[in-house]
Amino acid sequence: MDTRSRVAAISAHRNRRFGLTSRQLNLVIEVLFVSLVATGLASWLLPLDQAWVATTIHGIAGFMLFAVVPLKVLGPVRTGFRRRRLSRWLSATFGVMVLAVLVIGVLHANGIWWGYGYWTGMWTHLLLGFSSIPLFLWHVVSRPSKSARPKRVDVDRRSLLTTSTLLAAGVGAWGTQEVVLKAVGADAADRAGTGSHEIASFDPDAMPRMIWIDDKRPKIDFDTWELRVEGKVVALDDLWAMSKPVVAWLDCTDGWRSRQNWDVVPLSDLISNERARSIQVTSATGYRRLFPLSSASSVYLCVGYDGRRLHGGHGAPVRIVAPNRRGPWWIKWVTDVELSDRPAWMQLPLPGPSFGAGSSSKGAES
Ligand code: HEM
Repeated sequence: MDTRSRVAAISAHRNRRFGLTSRQLNLVIEVLFVSLVATGLASWLLPLDQAWVATTIHGIAGFMLFAVVPLKVLGPVRTGFRRRRLSRWLSATFGVMVLAVLVIGVLHANGIWWGYGYWTGMWTHLLLGFSSIPLFLWHVVSRPSKSARPKRVDVDRRSLLTTSTLLAAGVGAWGTQEVVLKAVGADAADRAGTGSHEIASFDPDAMPRMIWIDDKRPKIDFDTWELRVEGKVVALDDLWAMSKPVVAWLDCTDGWRSRQNWDVVPLSDLISNERARSIQVTSATGYRRLFPLSSASSVYLCVGYDGRRLHGGHGAPVRIVAPNRRGPWWIKWVTDVELSDRPAWMQLPLPGPSFGAGSSSKGAES
């Protein structure tokens, strides 16, 4: 090591805050940010009964990030602002956005802020969270000097000790939150493993009528409506006659869930070819998803709830009910059920405005 590097190393060592140099602190924040986005997305993708693993890690990582914010503000942020670079405002925007995501996440988890009407707290959390990703990438890529980039030596005994303490603090804070919510009997204590709060169970009229991202409810003419299964038209009255009640949670990615008594027919009662690999379900809007053939008896075509026809906003005349899967699988306004040789894993994990499995992404509950 030459003298300059040695002086830099000693100065970095002296400037540690809570046992971390600025570079180590940045590294911890970056790892936490990536983990938060990854676990947030995982909580959407995992089956409902497994999502709690991702959501719990998400909550703990969130509290860890909270704990390092003061260190970042007192250290690198203060120094960075002294440098008077124009880009510091971009960094400040990124910081404020992440702070807002953190605060809104906690408010939503604790059932304190739901948002206003259809503009929900969770949607705000997601919007700000996803929008901060480009700023995060810029922040990482635009490091001013080589010496600011992470190095192998950053993983030392002291930093590992500090991160373990941080982890313990994150677990402690998250655990305390859950204990307090239970102790005060808050509704939020009963939120799902996905983080969704219960709303309008067994009261379909009050259940929200959300749709996925930029979706629009199609105009439906019930007289000319056709549902085709493997290319053959199935009469809605026949579906009604075959339907049986099933109680299932609809868990929306917008942070709410609702339990209803759905009138359904399993896909396995309607399809024949057992050599196919998946079942493709398409909505009147063009939105489509593939379900594995093995799930045919646990994925349903639904015509109503509590013996009543579905509301248009809930996907009338026919929608999918897919217990243990998140809202984007609960396709509304179904027109076609077809068998496919394509395995269900050969599709994008989530639909989107332009990246769904089919030509368009419209028609699913968000
Ligand atoms: C910048 C990235 C993100 C940050 C900093 C962040 C932070 C947080 C925090 C601090 C909480 C509160 C945890 C608690 O009080 O238990 C939270 C909750 C939540 N976040 Fe995020 N989040 C981010 C991105 C995401 C993304 C991308 C998703 C989904 C795709 C997501 C989904 C959720 C969910 C579902 C909850 C509720 C968890 C619960 O109720 O226990 N978050 N987030």
